[in-house]
Amino acid sequence: MTQTNISTEPIFKSFNSEKLSLSNRTVMAPMTRGFSPGGVPGEDVAAYYRRRAENEVGLIVTEGTGINHPSSVSGDSIPLFHGEKSLEGWAEVVKQVHQAGGKIVPQLWHVGMTRSEGDLPNEEASPVGPSGLTLDGEKVTEPMTEEEVVALVDAYAQAAADAKRLGFDGIEIHGAHGYLIDQFLWENTNHRTDRYGGDLAGRTQFAVEIVEACRREVGPEFPIIFRFSQWKMNDFQAKLAHNSDELNRLLQPLVEAGVDIFHCSTRRFWEPEFEGSELNLAGWTKKLTGKPVISVGSVGLDGEFTSFSGANTTSLDGLIKKLDNEEFDLVAIGRSLLMDPEWVKKVHDGRADDLLPFNKEALQKLY
Ligand SMILES: Cc1cc2nc3c(=O)[nH]c(=O)nc-3n(C[C@H](O)[C@H](O)[C@H](O)COP(=O)(O)O)c2cc1C
Repeated sequence: MTQTNISTEPIFKSFNSEKLSLSNRTVMAPMTRGFSPGGVPGEDVAAYYRRRAENEVGLIVTEGTGINHPSSVSGDSIPLFHGEKSLEGWAEVVKQVHQAGGKIVPQLWHVGMTRSEGDLPNEEASPVGPSGLTLDGEKVTEPMTEEEVVALVDAYAQAAADAKRLGFDGIEIHGAHGYLIDQFLWENTNHRTDRYGGDLAGRTQFAVEIVEACRREVGPEFPIIFRFSQWKMNDFQAKLAHNSDELNRLLQPLVEAGVDIFHCSTRRFWEPEFEGSELNLAGWTKKLTGKPVISVGSVGLDGEFTSFSGANTTSLDGLIKKLDNEEFDLVAIGRSLLMDPEWVKKVHDGRADDLLPFNKEALQKLY
């Protein structure tokens, strides 16, 4: 493996923003695990998150968890964020993480048109999306009516209220990777001509209304994180914004709606986002909005998401330099932390040789 040659101190500086303070700059990236039968996260899931809190992860973002809508998720073992049993399960997760001194936010999720007809947990529920189009452009259902869109906004708001009631430290709204919110943002999947479609501003309207509705429920002090990406699960080259001006037009309405922190999902954190600048997507987002940002993508690994074929460990020098330059404030770590609950602590203790490579068998187990 390639050794990290410079001090890791920039990773371990505390983070203090208006509404959220963390002991260091590390975030556990949201990762769907499918270990919650019937949509209920159990003791094993609580212990899985607790182990990360015990080992110095600054902020845990949970796996995507389904809002209260019949087709919000695909699969019977994806945790839900509604219903008494599921919420009780989450309350235990929060308790365990807090007892270990950690902080945690749920990632609120609706998969939209990536769901297939007949998928569990509600086989009869059809997928929903802005124009009834899959990510590949195939029409499978009718576009949502305005009433349906408004009902979904309410479902996000309800989840935000529940998150606060259960004691979470904030929420993350999943607006990335081609799922429901991103299907509104992306011109390929949003052909609407009403107020939820058209130009970039129109396509941002659904996300804006969700953030506003969540803000109304949780009040001014509760952190709202918004995760977005250019890339989609079926198209790594996709773009919502081709230049910084378009990115600005996408982000400003979200800032005005009440987003506190942007989580800018890229597959390789070191890649410049637009020509003529070294800044990555998170760097640009910070520069344009003035808000704190989380970067992500292949930290500590030499193979990028979503090649699940495994990846070796690699030097953290590039990451540390970018953190030290304040290009971004926080860094999310995905597969390295999925594989190894002690990853952050090992880095802190200078135990680079003990860091584990990622292998796809790790997906079968809650380490
Ligand atoms: C098994 C797995 C499940 C994932 N599930 C989610 C998810 O539920 N929500 C999300 O926003 N991203 C999800 N991601 C993407 C990660 O949050 C992260 O952005 C990605 O893995 C890149 O980080 P890494 O290179 O450090 O792994 C998932 C990634 C993996 C490996």
